[in-house]
Amino acid sequence: MKAVTWCGKKTVKVENVPDPTILNPRDAIIKITSTCICGSDLHLYDGYIPTMQRGDILGHEFMGEVIEVGKGVASDKLRVGDRVVVPFTIACGNCFFCKQQLWSSCDNSNPNAWIAEKAFGFTPSGLFGYSHMTGGYAGGQAEFARVPYADVGPLKVPEGMTDDQVIFLSDIFPTGYMAAEMCDIKSGDTIAIWGCGPVGQFAIRSAFLLGASQVVAIDSVPERMELAAKAGATIIDMRDEWIYDRLLDLTGGRGPDACIEAVGNESHGGTLDAYYDMAALATFQVTDKAHALRQCINCCRKGGTVSIVGVYGGIVDKIPMGAAMNKGLTFRMGQTHMMRYMKPLLEHIQAGRIDPSEIISHRLLLEEAPHAYEIFKHKRDGCVKVVLKPN
Ligand SMILES: NC(=O)c1ccc[n+]([C@@H]2O[C@H](COP(=O)([O-])OP(=O)(O)OC[C@H]3O[C@@H](n4cnc5c(N)ncnc54)[C@H](O)[C@@H]3O)[C@@H](O)[C@H]2O)c1
Repeated sequence: MKAVTWCGKKTVKVENVPDPTILNPRDAIIKITSTCICGSDLHLYDGYIPTMQRGDILGHEFMGEVIEVGKGVASDKLRVGDRVVVPFTIACGNCFFCKQQLWSSCDNSNPNAWIAEKAFGFTPSGLFGYSHMTGGYAGGQAEFARVPYADVGPLKVPEGMTDDQVIFLSDIFPTGYMAAEMCDIKSGDTIAIWGCGPVGQFAIRSAFLLGASQVVAIDSVPERMELAAKAGATIIDMRDEWIYDRLLDLTGGRGPDACIEAVGNESHGGTLDAYYDMAALATFQVTDKAHALRQCINCCRKGGTVSIVGVYGGIVDKIPMGAAMNKGLTFRMGQTHMMRYMKPLLEHIQAGRIDPSEIISHRLLLEEAPHAYEIFKHKRDGCVKVVLKPN
């Protein structure tokens, strides 16, 4: 089959690789009909996440048709012919963490847990196409994929719904929603969101769904800010405005009730700390850049919440802990606990309360993946979100 492979920093190729096969009784094989490139894939593309190997198949946002199931998958859970969206986190459904709906902390789905334990103390769940530290699983930017614990993760797509309507249930809609949910939004709240990428877009829409009175979105990419404004957000263009001052103006001098970090470890900016990050990264003193995170902490009102869904892989520096401590901030963060959100969010789509497809800017063939990575990475050609079609 054809698949998108990681071939070193800033190089992806479409190569012929062996088709996946059932390895364990609870596996299923999916024929992929739509797959996307995520901001998280850019961290692999740019070489921020360790333990990638040449030839690794990328992709963790995908959906398609079940063409084979293992003997351990009960037919009331999944059958050949079902159309499914696959969550990016792999979860066993039986461990202490899965039982508490902390799906992205599953204790059984990372066969390389020892690597993550050395880095983080404990391992997160296995992830599709996301380095050997999270399992070394082949990803879904391919014609077919093997889905482990297929009786737990995949969500069946109701008849009549298109791929474009549901594909983002595989990751970014639940992620944006969890980011907003972690803010414990009350009526009257102002939520500030750093990053108007696909995750930020869903965080904006979810914050409104959860009752925020005002959502302020921060970025510098014109078409992304435009899309955020279309969803009702007040925009701060980080190129021309002082974010802190503008946020105080918009909140009667108090600061936002919660700040969502939807940028992650490649955040950039024009202030001293952002230049410090670049120097520290170049000299191997840090692994991640934290400019947006620092701004979230500094701008959040006293007693507010900083909700972090932007991905960090290792060590950051110059975190203003004095501000966080003395303002009494609450920090919440994590990889998304996907299976908590997929069904309820499907219902929001069915009810017409949200149209996820409005963020798609490009529909391309799988073969065009190298070009797609380029335009998504550099925000060229109005690229907000790419859906790749294997056929
Ligand atoms: N927690 C999870 O489970 C989860 C799931 C999916 C994605 N993510 C992460 O969410 C983050 C966003 O994903 P995406 O797909 O939207 O990525 P993206 O790269 O397309 O978007 C990031 C946006 O942030 C903007 N940005 C950069 N620096 C900024 C700054 N200092 N202030 C404000 N905006 C800034 C960029 O211009 C860009 O529009 C990534 O780190 C990704 O890895 C996390």
